[in-house]
Amino acid sequence: NVPSLGARYRDYFDIGAAVNLKTIESQQGVLSRHYNSITAENDMKFERLQPEEGRYTFEAADRIAAFADEHSMKLRGHTLVWHNQTPQWVFEGRDGQPADRELLLSRMKSHIDTVVGRYKGRAYAWDVVNEVIEDKSDIWLRSSPWLDIAGEDFIAEAFRYAHEADPAAILFYNDYNESDPVKRDKIIRLLRSLKEKDVPVHGMGMQGHWNLNGPGLDEIRAAIEGYASLGLQVQITELDISVFDFEDRRTDLVRPTAEMEEKQAERYDAVFRMLREYRDVITAVTFWGAADDYTWLDDFPVRGRKNWPFVFDEKHEPKPSFQRITDWQA
Ligand code: G3I
Repeated sequence: NVPSLGARYRDYFDIGAAVNLKTIESQQGVLSRHYNSITAENDMKFERLQPEEGRYTFEAADRIAAFADEHSMKLRGHTLVWHNQTPQWVFEGRDGQPADRELLLSRMKSHIDTVVGRYKGRAYAWDVVNEVIEDKSDIWLRSSPWLDIAGEDFIAEAFRYAHEADPAAILFYNDYNESDPVKRDKIIRLLRSLKEKDVPVHGMGMQGHWNLNGPGLDEIRAAIEGYASLGLQVQITELDISVFDFEDRRTDLVRPTAEMEEKQAERYDAVFRMLREYRDVITAVTFWGAADDYTWLDDFPVRGRKNWPFVFDEKHEPKPSFQRITDWQA
């Protein structure tokens, strides 16, 4: 008698999963039973939606939105402005030179208008700006064509355009290594400056690509509290807990050892125990996949190495991790 994960957390936060066109078929059962929100893993990114200027390709994204509707799931939009998976034409001028600021911002605006407008009233939230903070400690913003051409207020403009396109959508800044104290403080500096300018930013998306041994719970906790102190809601937007330690680069495993599964279960237990304490600020916890038969971690950070980062196994059966995050008393 397996409880539904989403139902178990009904009074706490939504439980989401990232999906693609394959997994909405192959994982339909586990998705519809245990998750109440979905995010498109790739199909709402710039290169997928507007591969050439003015030519929009919404088929895949529409199928994912329809899947959410059919199963009464919420839909999170991901992602509007990113340095990755954005076609080259966006940054090119009409004369073979790089685009200038005005052209780049007008392209950003028409993309956001069109995409947010299409899913208005369906995507309740958007990751508007993704990963613009630099990891290295002495640099604030990541160098990218967006920043290099348009200057730092491309970030504020993206949020303003998204808000105009759907005033009801909850707008997120989304980033990884979000619990690292140095990066966290740089993210907070960005979010604070946006809030001071009355930019419509409503939430912090902590991606949550975590390992067996890091980040520490105290760091995750400090990050949640830091972001929430700005008056933002917080979501874990791309959760996975690798069965490897960060330093572990082994490639020979065909299944996780019992020890790894137990360590992962303890880690999931501790993480969810803590997340439940923050039910007032955390509105959703989205896994970056649904079950261990498919994860982007199968190729990262070690190419071709299988990983098992979720709470359902390759056959979609609950793992020890699932038991631990569902077996508790309020
Ligand atoms: O679709 C092509 C396929 O036609 C081709 O044969 C194949 C060969 O490599 O590549 C396929 O595209 C891949 C795509 O995923 C679909 O599987 C890309 O190479 C690959 O780079 C891409 O990776 C995605 C990655 O974002 C790109 O940065 C992952 O699936 C996706 O999970 C990942 O998601 C990101 C979030 O959006 C932002 N936060 C980090 C997170 C993990 O990296």
